[in-house]
Amino acid sequence: MYNTKIAGAGKFIPEKVVTNQDLEKLMETSDQWIRERTGIEERHWLRRGEETSSTMAAKASKDAIKMAGIEAEDIDFIIFATLSPDFFFPGNGVMLQRHLGITKTEIPALDIRNQCSGFVYGLEVADQFIKTGKYKNILLVGAEYHSGGIDISTRGRGISVLFGDGAGAVVLQPTDKDKGILTTHIHSDGSQAEILSAKNPGMHGGYYDEDHKEGGYDVSTDHPFVLVTDKMMEDSLIYPFMEGQTVFKTAVRKFPEVIKKALDTAGYTTNDVNLVIPHQANLRISQFVQKLLHLRDDQMFNNIQKYGNTTAASIPIAITEALEQGRVKEGDLVVLAAFGSGFTWGSALVRW
Ligand code: ACO
Repeated sequence: MYNTKIAGAGKFIPEKVVTNQDLEKLMETSDQWIRERTGIEERHWLRRGEETSSTMAAKASKDAIKMAGIEAEDIDFIIFATLSPDFFFPGNGVMLQRHLGITKTEIPALDIRNQCSGFVYGLEVADQFIKTGKYKNILLVGAEYHSGGIDISTRGRGISVLFGDGAGAVVLQPTDKDKGILTTHIHSDGSQAEILSAKNPGMHGGYYDEDHKEGGYDVSTDHPFVLVTDKMMEDSLIYPFMEGQTVFKTAVRKFPEVIKKALDTAGYTTNDVNLVIPHQANLRISQFVQKLLHLRDDQMFNNIQKYGNTTAASIPIAITEALEQGRVKEGDLVVLAAFGSGFTWGSALVRW
């Protein structure tokens, strides 16, 4: 059995910066409200037609592939985590394969839909395949094009101020024992699925929503096209929904729980940790987690101030920046942790 190391990392952030002051022109909000509640100062949003989540992923992947010292053609498994794919289907994994010019067809491309936890979920999946020796160069990416799917009017301000666009990628390779990924833990709780969700467009046809249900079915008059309905458009039901306070309260319980689980499993304590790289959900969530775990400032990585919440992309973007800034060095003990829609959450403990 092998261990799995992060051999290369890369990120792509769109050029256009959207500050809190810019948002003040679009909706009733203020720089002060956004900073106090979320810590976010600015985020990057794509210009329409400029990129997609899969093209941003390709740019981030090229840097990760270069750092790993391989060629795109050496990739033997693509795992793509996103909640904002280019198409309803096929998934972004095959689009990324195409953008990278990978011509060999023996390789699988897997799409992961676990939102903010997508990267950690992908890491656990990749780890299993590297450990057994099945694959040797796995490309794992998280990328999000949020700005194209949020309500940027006052009605959507509770959500739209939080999110930014971007992509992050890592290349995973086998390494010696007691280095690389030491343990991973992924969890889910479907009872909370709607608390943070974008139900539309979707194939539920009103199943989860009593007042949208219609009885009877006559194929000649009532062919039920449900993916996008007039009601969805008229009532603006196509935007993400979030019960912010429930998300906050659950996140600050689950982050510490799953970080401790990883440390306990591998026989470490928070004192042994060099850096915690949490999914960048909200600076206040990360600060709460830091306090609960009695972590020093130098043990926490935060960059949400510049990028907002980039969901599946946030951890690989943060890994890339932490490496660029010399905050992760060979031999360091690093914890990755995520919580998000589903609810889903997870952690990974890595000896760099
Ligand atoms: N600007 C100004 N006012 C706003 C904004 C905004 N952008 N958004 C909401 N408000 C208003 C509301 O309308 C409300 O006004 P009212 O009192 O007149 O009704 C008031 O601010 C308070 O609204 P709440 O939703 O109660 O605000 P809260 O203090 O809970 O803060 C927030 C909202 C920041 C979303 C908070 O709940 C939170 O941090 N939740 C965690 C969610 C999160 O971080 N999610 C990230 C994505 S999920 C993930 O990655 C895990």
